[in-house]
Amino acid sequence: KLIPVILSGGVGSRLWPLSREHYPKQLLALAGEKTMLQDTVTRLNGLADLTGPIVVCNEVHRFLIAEQLRALNITPLHLILEPVGRNTAPAVAIAALTAQAEEADALILVLPADHLIQNPEAFRDAVTAGKSAAAQGHLVTFGVVPTRPETGYGYIKTGESLTPDNAVFKVAQFVEKPDLNTATNYLKSGDYYWNSGMFLFRADVYLAELARYSPDMLIACQQAYEKAKQDADFLRIDSESFTQCPANSVDYAVMEKTEMGALIPLSAQWSDVGAWSALWEVSPRDENENVLLGDVLTHEVKNCYLRAEHRLIAGIGLDNLIVIETADAVLIAPIEQAQTVKKIVEQLKAGN
Ligand code: GDD
Ligand code: MG
Repeated sequence: KLIPVILSGGVGSRLWPLSREHYPKQLLALAGEKTMLQDTVTRLNGLADLTGPIVVCNEVHRFLIAEQLRALNITPLHLILEPVGRNTAPAVAIAALTAQAEEADALILVLPADHLIQNPEAFRDAVTAGKSAAAQGHLVTFGVVPTRPETGYGYIKTGESLTPDNAVFKVAQFVEKPDLNTATNYLKSGDYYWNSGMFLFRADVYLAELARYSPDMLIACQQAYEKAKQDADFLRIDSESFTQCPANSVDYAVMEKTEMGALIPLSAQWSDVGAWSALWEVSPRDENENVLLGDVLTHEVKNCYLRAEHRLIAGIGLDNLIVIETADAVLIAPIEQAQTVKKIVEQLKAGN
């Protein structure tokens, strides 16, 4: 059986003011009718031998998430609540322990809840292609051909082919979030893929690699899992042990170090809609290259993303601008500075 594990613990601060700590981007319908979490579970339809998903999230989002799954008639295998965020490596460790209790040699498919995939069939084919490599003990990643020297992604260099049809490669090198210089060289070399952030592996293999490269984390997660309490539909992991767990991502804690990595090329029009600029890129645009959502009037406006949630936005003579209007906050920024939105969120957090 294949157990999907959906990571839904992030806050999505670069999509402020729509994405908020209590209502993060994966729980919003940013690029369609369904929320990104709902899209993530829906695109699994058609995969064989699949169980219901294990969803790992922060406890504050439990009712929103339960409700969004219920609306699709999806019963999660487990809804695991974290008392605090410790990044993705511990979240996956807890999910792997839970999956192992279901089935000793369970395969888990780790999926971020906030990605956009415009060709879900190609995604499902890639997952199916990865199953036997994963069953043989590989930690399978899905690689996207890079188009710019993005420093927010992991880069993967492929090694020898593991199958005669060149569908699966060994990972020769995994570098998480390189600096701009390095990313530019990787892009030029043509030897690297972007890590899409989705993984397929056996739960026991992941736990064994964690034991090797991050034993303190594994011990803290085992304790948090052993002391977990089932509370109605939710599995609450132990707060004291989990709070003591070191924070790290799967990428740094395991993927950069393991020798068991494998890569499947993925061309499914994948994107990590991390910032408003990325949403502008993936959204349908009008003849002036504008994305206009909600109550918006324009005159001589081009290359803009204008989103009105509560009031009318009227734009005149604008180019390359993001305007996001919500009930209590309005963001105005040039598209190329979309990444900087997190600076504002930091100021808000600091109480300025
Ligand atoms: N449950 C839980 N707990 N989920 C979390 C936590 C946590 O503490 N932290 C993050 N997540 C979720 C996020 O909501 C997101 O869905 C996913 O895990 C990945 O976390 P990000 O914080 O978005 O990672 P990233 O985008 O910086 O980097 C990863 O993804 C890139 C592609 O989008 C890496 O895997 C990169 O190598 C990769 O290129
Ligand atoms: Mg991300």
